[in-house]
Amino acid sequence: MSKKLTTSWGAPVGDNQNSMTAGSRGPTLIQDVHLLEKLAHFNRERVPERVVHAKGAGAHGYFEVTNDVSKYTKADFLSEVGKRTPMFIRFSTVAGELGSADTVRDPRGFAVKFYTEEGNYDLVGNNTPVFFIRDAIKFPDFIHTQKRHPQTHLKNPNAVWDFWSLSPESLHQVTILMSDRGIPATLRHMHGFGSHTFKWVNNEGEAVWVKYHFKTNQGVKNLAPDVAAKIAGENPDYHTEDLFNAIDKGDFPSWTLYVQIMPVEDADTYRWDPFDVTKVWSQKDYPLIEVGKMTLNKNPENYFAEVEQVTLSPGNFVPGIEASPDKMLQGRLFAYSDAHRYRVGANHNALPINRPKAEVNNYQRDGFMRPDSNGGSSVYYEPNSFSGPQESAEDRTTGFPVSGVAESVSYDHDDHYTQAGDLYRLMSEEERARLVENIVGAMKPVESDEIKLRQIQHFYKADPDYGTRIAKGLGLEVPVQA
Ligand code: HEM
Repeated sequence: MSKKLTTSWGAPVGDNQNSMTAGSRGPTLIQDVHLLEKLAHFNRERVPERVVHAKGAGAHGYFEVTNDVSKYTKADFLSEVGKRTPMFIRFSTVAGELGSADTVRDPRGFAVKFYTEEGNYDLVGNNTPVFFIRDAIKFPDFIHTQKRHPQTHLKNPNAVWDFWSLSPESLHQVTILMSDRGIPATLRHMHGFGSHTFKWVNNEGEAVWVKYHFKTNQGVKNLAPDVAAKIAGENPDYHTEDLFNAIDKGDFPSWTLYVQIMPVEDADTYRWDPFDVTKVWSQKDYPLIEVGKMTLNKNPENYFAEVEQVTLSPGNFVPGIEASPDKMLQGRLFAYSDAHRYRVGANHNALPINRPKAEVNNYQRDGFMRPDSNGGSSVYYEPNSFSGPQESAEDRTTGFPVSGVAESVSYDHDDHYTQAGDLYRLMSEEERARLVENIVGAMKPVESDEIKLRQIQHFYKADPDYGTRIAKGLGLEVPVQA
């Protein structure tokens, strides 16, 4: 038998189909408090969508350690082979709104929350190992170019290519985005990356630099642009549906996690700045080391409660994993929790999807929508004489030396072309042809030849063949190199 329908204050509802009116022709009575509550709550159903990565799909699963990496990190969830940690992942596109199509050319978010016994560890990465820019101060401008024009409310290729052509550090990521991998076939058929360099610290307090690679065990598959465009029209939620259906029928997708480890002292002499997120580390220099396997085996019960309300932050570290000086990462350490406080509220970490499985003991109190016991009657300040929770010296982050003049300053390595060119040269002729076709198609609507020529110079500097073919495709001459 069905349960009784109730109001939000728990009282039974007498009629949910007919509002209370003066006679059958009305008007409606304000004393129908059930009607008032129903309409008012409906008006408040939306929270602000994420300013980027608004369209997403999520799933629960577990991470299992398959290789001993305890000599590199003391992180408890990585401490022994066979150890399992529950996790939640949210995949996303970057630029589109909540209802936008899944099969567009865009990087994909790959954001994992590990519910470890030492607190939540979030790895908020993408399906690409690099990013378009390398300083957080450029992020709002970059995202403006990816969003809609303030007057027409249309996407604006002029802004996109103007910004990229004036920010040559974007070339590596632009080459990846415009390649076959720019449109994954499904969320299950793509790799994931932490992208930034992070620091791992072991039980002896020794540090290494680390980069994360999640390799899909389903194999990489992509969509041809014409197929993707057709699907975007017919089923804009294609990736969301594919993930849900696969898990629903027990076809659980998995990824193997590898890391690259760099000794701390190499950072000063390596040919790339290891804290520049527009660059990869050669796997010949720093080979992949297996860590474990992530398997997704449970769909969310409720999209809003879990996928929309999950709050993932690159600043959510656990002992044994720390930040690096990467200027983008440093900006992100601020941006995400700030967005969460705005989008979900100051107590977002107390919601079921975000609540750590580890015990939370601190002196934070009150705030809008505090859903737990708010610390009850326990001591609410520190220092105190009442055995309140105390800091643990063994969990202090590692110290590190800093030097230099404090000023607004760029990276000291400025080669934007070698890695983008290497990637081009690594591609087969068919892959290059498709890359060129995709770029030419994307640049054609740009109105200004000046912008096109500036961008062609960058392709040319990466590889003369790359630049020449794009110039030809656009019906332009390669400009004389500066
Ligand atoms: C989401 C800012 C760079 C991956 C977001 C959100 C903000 C943001 C404000 C929305 C968070 C929310 O409302 O929950 C920034 C800033 C960046 C930056 C300021 C540069 C300084 C990056 C980079 C990556 C990345 C380099 C990947 C390597 C993501 C992902 C999400 C996201 C995956 C979605 C997380 C989720 O599923 O909830 N970013 N971002 N972002 N960002 Fe970034």
